[in-house]
Amino acid sequence: MKKQNLVIVGGGSTYTIGMIMSLIAEKKNFPLNSITFYDNDEKRQEKVAKATSIILDEYYPELESFHYTTDKETAFTGIDIAFIQIRTGGLQMRELDEQIPLKYGVVGQETCGPGGMAYGLRSIRDMIELVYDIKKYSKDAWILNYTNPAAIVAEALKREFPQDPKLLNICDMPIAIMHSFATMLNKNIWDLVPSYFGLNHFGWFTKIEDSEGNDLTQIIKDTIMGEGFVPTDQEIANDQSWQQTFEQARKMLIDFPEFLPNTYLQYYLYPDDLAKKESLTNTRARQVINGREKRITELCNQIIQDKSTKNVELHVDIHGVYMVKAAASLVYNLKQTYIVMVENNGIISNIPDDAMVEVPALLTASGPKPFSVGKIPTFYKGLIENQFAYEKLVADAYFENSYTKALQALTLNRTVVHVPTAKAILDDLIEANKGYWPELQ
Ligand code: NAD
Ligand code: G6P
Ligand code: MN
Repeated sequence: MKKQNLVIVGGGSTYTIGMIMSLIAEKKNFPLNSITFYDNDEKRQEKVAKATSIILDEYYPELESFHYTTDKETAFTGIDIAFIQIRTGGLQMRELDEQIPLKYGVVGQETCGPGGMAYGLRSIRDMIELVYDIKKYSKDAWILNYTNPAAIVAEALKREFPQDPKLLNICDMPIAIMHSFATMLNKNIWDLVPSYFGLNHFGWFTKIEDSEGNDLTQIIKDTIMGEGFVPTDQEIANDQSWQQTFEQARKMLIDFPEFLPNTYLQYYLYPDDLAKKESLTNTRARQVINGREKRITELCNQIIQDKSTKNVELHVDIHGVYMVKAAASLVYNLKQTYIVMVENNGIISNIPDDAMVEVPALLTASGPKPFSVGKIPTFYKGLIENQFAYEKLVADAYFENSYTKALQALTLNRTVVHVPTAKAILDDLIEANKGYWPELQ
């Protein structure tokens, strides 16, 4: 097995330590020669990198090298694979994305609704630039992107880099939900075989089988209906916001018992209820700043102070493990099945070919090979086509600098609908995103 040279873009991310623990846990399946961090915020990255260096000394002594840099040429030269996890504008801008719609009674969320559009219009430019830069210095590198809003980023990257089998967008939500299914069933998560269709943060499990082909879907539905649904991955299990989100699966199943929903559908199916529950001074961004970000900062400080991990608790999370396993399947041609984003091209036969859909695919050395889904029922087709039209219009607004397309996007979004509200939110978002967004005319 050839050892890989990996760059993590967004080295200062709150997910980096979890990713490092996953790379350590998976080192036999995904052996590394070097890890490099790249970030455009030197200080933020330095803290995480210094702690990482100590972690790696203890748990990955055979790793040839670990470096961190803010120089793209140094970071991207001679690499086999890049993981990208950036947040343009940081958690501060996320907070505005969530607060601005809420002022108008509309859901404020990182990836859904107007907040998602605002974040998308910030992410696209940085993402396109990064992909060009990585290709400039390592033209054959695999590029795995997790940067949100992944649906909009995927749509924009598809336009800029058409049919690139080595550029892939992945989300951890389906596997995080499967983690809960596995716990509920007392099964190994990697033995569950999902059938799934949709767009990113907008999809449904149609079936869950075990490795022997036993259909477990009805047991899962009955358990959720009877006992509710909870997050079980350690990273989110004790988080009140995620607990409330998972709980909504029951309500969604009662209303629409056909398929098992992705948790993000709550924002589109019950937008008014969620907007009412949210508070301007305590949106999710604020919770993350006071929660995950603070926890990671303290953890890094402790490791750096002790020059050891002896006083901290480190764990592997499903987010990191999923990304690493998927990467291994790609580079070593393992042909394992993971749910990823790919261009539709007939996979879901009754929605547009150019939609970036999220479906199970074999991950091979020549790229993802998705399984056919076939025709989906009218309700799901209607929802997906509406949401895809919104995503396309956001990308159009970016590439065409078009105010009208942005307004059309928000109007189509199920969390908004009312045009004057869409306009008021859009105008506030334009003001807040000066310097980040293209100038819309
Ligand atoms: P964060 O703000 O803690 O980390 C992002 C890092 O990226 C920061 O260190 C920042 O300085 C850096 N950065 C920003 N712009 C950059 C650029 N142009 N070049 C290089 N570095 C840049 O954010 P986080 O909460 O850790 O999340 C990171 C990203 O991962 C977000 O986009 C988040 O939405 C995404 N995410 C996706 C999934 C998924 O399932 N796809 C899961 C978790 C997180
Ligand atoms: C899940 C989603 C990600 C999203 C994250 C947000 O993992 O798949 O796309 O970024 O949740 O979590 P947070 O705790 O930051 O709200
Ligand atoms: Mn996601």
